[in-house]
Formats: sequence, C-alpha cells, structure tokens
Amino acid sequence: MHHIDIDLIEMTLDVMKYVIGRVSATEHQIGKPKKAEELKAAVGETVTAKGVGGEYAFDLWKKHLATTNVPVDHPRNLAFVPASPTKAAIMFDLITSASSIHGAYWMEGAGGIFCENEAMRWIVSLTGLPNGAFGVFTSGGTAANLSAIVTAREHWRENPKYKRENGLIITSIGAHSSIKAMAKVADVDIIMVDSEEHLTGEALKETIGTLTEHQRKCLFAVVATGGTTNAGIIDDLESIAQVCEEEKLWFHVDAAYGGGALVADSVRHLFNGIDKADSITIDPHKWMFSPYDCGAVIYKNMALAKNAHSQQGSYLEIFKDEGAHGFNPTDYQIQLTRRVRGLPLWFSLATHGTDRYKEAVERGLELAQIAARLIEAHPDLELVREPSLSCVLYRRKGWQPEDYTHWTYENHEKGFALVTPTKWKNGDVYETCSRFCFINPDTTERDIEMILESMV
Ligand SMILES: Cc1ncc(COP(=O)(O)O)c(C=O)c1O
Repeated sequence: MHHIDIDLIEMTLDVMKYVIGRVSATEHQIGKPKKAEELKAAVGETVTAKGVGGEYAFDLWKKHLATTNVPVDHPRNLAFVPASPTKAAIMFDLITSASSIHGAYWMEGAGGIFCENEAMRWIVSLTGLPNGAFGVFTSGGTAANLSAIVTAREHWRENPKYKRENGLIITSIGAHSSIKAMAKVADVDIIMVDSEEHLTGEALKETIGTLTEHQRKCLFAVVATGGTTNAGIIDDLESIAQVCEEEKLWFHVDAAYGGGALVADSVRHLFNGIDKADSITIDPHKWMFSPYDCGAVIYKNMALAKNAHSQQGSYLEIFKDEGAHGFNPTDYQIQLTRRVRGLPLWFSLATHGTDRYKEAVERGLELAQIAARLIEAHPDLELVREPSLSCVLYRRKGWQPEDYTHWTYENHEKGFALVTPTKWKNGDVYETCSRFCFINPDTTERDIEMILESMV
C-alpha cells in the first residue's frame, strides 16, 4: 500500500487525467441520485479482504457513482447555497492532500498555516474589525458558529455569578438552522425573534424587554445574520451592535453565506456595523469560491477564543509555545487535528488577485437582478420580494406546493437544472415559492430564461 510500483504510477496518471477532464470541462451533467440498493447492485462488493484493485474501483466510480452526484458548480444548480470553486483552488486542494500537513500547530504546519493566515488577513480586512482581530479556517459555518458560541459562553462564565447557568442567546427565525443546532450542542437556550425580515436593534430591545429576570441574567449573546440562507437578508447590524454594547452582550454575525459579498462595493454598505462584532462566521466554500470544506471564524479578541478552545495534554505541550513557533490554529476553534483547508483559497487569491473575487461576486449579485427583471416581465411569474444579495424568491401564479415539487423533480430528472422550492413567511402564513441562489459567475442569462420557461 505504501510502495511505489507501476500500478501506483498508472493510477496516478488516470486520476490526474480524470481531474484535468473535470476541471477543464465546460459542460457538466447534473447527476441523479439512485437508491443505495441500486448502487449496491451495480457495483457489488468493493471492500473485501484482498481488494478489487484500483483500476476496477475507479471504473465503478466513473460508470456508476460519479453520475449520481449533483455537482454544486453546475451553472443551473441554483439550489441551497451552491458553490463554484476556482480551478486554481481545486488544483491546490490536491496539493493540500498530497502534502500531508497537520494544520493544528505551527511547529508542524508552518508553511501551510502561513498561507492560510495570508488569506485570513484579507478576509478580516473586509470586515473592518479593529487591529488584533483574526480568525481560523474551520470545516464550515456550523463549526464556526459553534466555536464562536462556545467562546462567548466561556467568556460570560468567567464571572462566578454565571458559572452554573446554561446561558441564553437571541437570534431571529431568519437565522440558519445551524444556530439552533449548535445551541443544542453547547446546551445553550435560544429565543428566536419571529420575523424573517431583517432583525433590528429595536426588535431586539423589545424582545429583551419581555425576558424574565432569570432569562435576562442568562442572556449572554445575540446572533445576527449577514445574509439569510433563505432570502439573503442582512440584519440591521449597526443598531443590533448598539443594543449589544448597551446590554453588554456578545455580538456574533453569521455571514457564512453573505460574507463573500463584503468584497462587493455595490452592497458593502448593507453590512455596516459588522466591524463592531465580537465574532463573525464566513464560509469561503460558499461565496469565496473555495472547494469543500472551508469555513472561517473570526474574533475581535483572539485571547478569548484561546481561553475557550486551547486543548491541554502532556503530549501537546511541545507544540504549544506560540512565542517560539508561531500561530496555532487549533487554539481558536473546536478541532484539534485539522487540514490546512485555507491553503487552496490562498493559492487562488495569490493566482488571481482580490479584484477578480470582487468581479465574480458582483456577477452573482447582477444575476439576481437579471432574474428579478425577467420574472417581473413574465405574465405567469411574480417576485415574492425584491432580491437580497443573490437570493431571489418568486412564485408561479396559480401553483400549489406540489406543483413546485413536481417541477423540481422533473427538471432534475431531465438533468437540466436543480432549483428547489422554499417557504416564505408572510404574516402568519408560510407560502411555498421557488428560490434561486446565485454563486457561480458562469451562470448565464439564457440559463435563467430556460429555467423560467420550463415553468409554463
Ligand atoms: C447563514 C448560514 N450559516 C451557517 C450555515 C452552515 O454552514 P455549513 O453548511 O458550512 O456548516 C449556512 C449554510 O448554508 C448558512 O447559509
């Protein structure tokens, strides 16, 4: 397994050929999922005592398995938050794997961590946070949100008055599901302001006013969203920051999806107030064109994150001297052993320059405006609301929820597009509608037209 022989060389060439084909292809298929039993019937036993051989296994992958995935970078994959990693980032992801770098401590991963930090410095500069703010790359937004919540809670519990309390956070129903999920993991209570439109300082203040004395004692943080996943809405970060300051609450901004838009001059003002955050989540694997998986958590005060996350162990002591060695990413988030997952982003930034990132994000924003104008001009379609960032919610007049589901499956079945329905809360009513989320700058106006035409 660890020797170099002719089989290994052939396998390496085959893999490189496949990767070059994938990266240079201009048309990808939208794959269709199959049931696990069908896949098992097609590929048979693959994990056996003697192995089935690399060539055979690779053939199975190409013939039966690769085609059942829906590539997130397909220009007509506009579901969830899609992605569009740059070719440079993908190629350096291979180097990241091939280099076997342990990215926890500088002592072992200096070169990789140095590059990650160069990329991180640029991300932090987009936020406007003061000197001393910095961050680390995580496995995604969920891990970043958890790392931030745990840091905030540990800081709050430094006060002996709160030692035995669970803690409470406030967010809104527009927040991503990971906030609720991570509050559960951290055993923190959560109150959700009941509006999917942008959360304001006023609404936050009103909610704080309804808390019992004990709840107010336990309240330690507010999570605002910098681009809701469903609709791209940015909370009123300036007024929320002010309430957090007055009430002495930790201010976290989840900009996992929207954070990439900090680079775009046309919408940067919508994030005003993010520079007052105590912590911020931004996912480079969303709108910074990195391959999966790559999230980031940023802190105004890194020492607080270190207090919360630094792991102790006799075998770790040698690695821990930041003075002698350098920056240790493990100390600032929940993971010990880690891939230097910011390395592909660094290579892509170094290759293309940050202006190209600005252009690519602006194109996503422009595509949302183009889609909105096409929808408005269409007699059978209507906007549910004006686009926010790159999310567009729209309805097909006369359709019931099952019509949207049927249409999604039909387009997916044909290998044409993946556009999925969502719900939008209007007053007390949840309306099912269709949703676009644009990330890929290669999506064309014609792609959007064809998708809309398929609704009539
Ligand atoms: C606003 C927001 N926060 C958090 C997440 C979770 O991020 P991840 O899937 O990278 O864990 C997402 C994912 O879409 C998101 O949009």
